[in-house]
Amino acid sequence: MMFIFMLQTFQVMSQETRQSVFTTIHQRKSVRQYQDKPVPKEKTDTLLRAAMAAPTARNIQPWLFYVITSRKILDQLAEELPYAKMLAQAPMAIVVAGDTKKGNPNEEQIHNWTLDCAAATQNLLLAAEALGLGAVWTGVYPYKERIAAVSKALGLPGHIIPLNIIPIGYPLLDDRPKDKWDPEKVKWVE
Ligand SMILES: Cc1cc2nc3c(=O)[nH]c(=O)nc-3n(C[C@H](O)[C@H](O)[C@H](O)COP(=O)(O)O)c2cc1C
Repeated sequence: MMFIFMLQTFQVMSQETRQSVFTTIHQRKSVRQYQDKPVPKEKTDTLLRAAMAAPTARNIQPWLFYVITSRKILDQLAEELPYAKMLAQAPMAIVVAGDTKKGNPNEEQIHNWTLDCAAATQNLLLAAEALGLGAVWTGVYPYKERIAAVSKALGLPGHIIPLNIIPIGYPLLDDRPKDKWDPEKVKWVE
């Protein structure tokens, strides 16, 4: 009897968990305006743990995460990055970067770090949504000037390349997700 009750409870819980995964995926949106309120350390840790749970080719894990809370550096990058002006309002940002010395540097696998870091970024963005935070992927790689600006601000060596910078904070407005569902994009191969 007890066993059946536990099994039922587990089934209900896992159904709810599944439901919340889909809710989070479909509610995620780019958030570019933030409240003047810091992101607590525990939430930042949760974001980073989610990011590092991403799939990664050959389990190389070439990613590095630079958590920027320095007002001076956030403002400096807001000045220098043309499409990341919202850094000036954000209490925090995370740069997802790839260590290009990790893994096999042959022709075919040289770009795997970008794929792994992109997967980690999406996990981080979903975690931010689930935690009630707002975030947006702002592009750094492959733009030479943006890579140079971020690398200089963080003192990165040449083999560490920033993929993006993600401003994060509590949303100021009630941003809504875009509906991108398009059945025309689906090609069935039967
Ligand atoms: C590779 C990449 C680069 C992006 N770069 C920027 C950027 O520099 N600045 C910005 O405000 N948004 C940037 N975005 C966010 C997109 O504009 C956003 O994801 C898109 O408009 C869809 O909106 P949504 O995220 O709310 O679904 C970028 C997104 C990706 C995936």
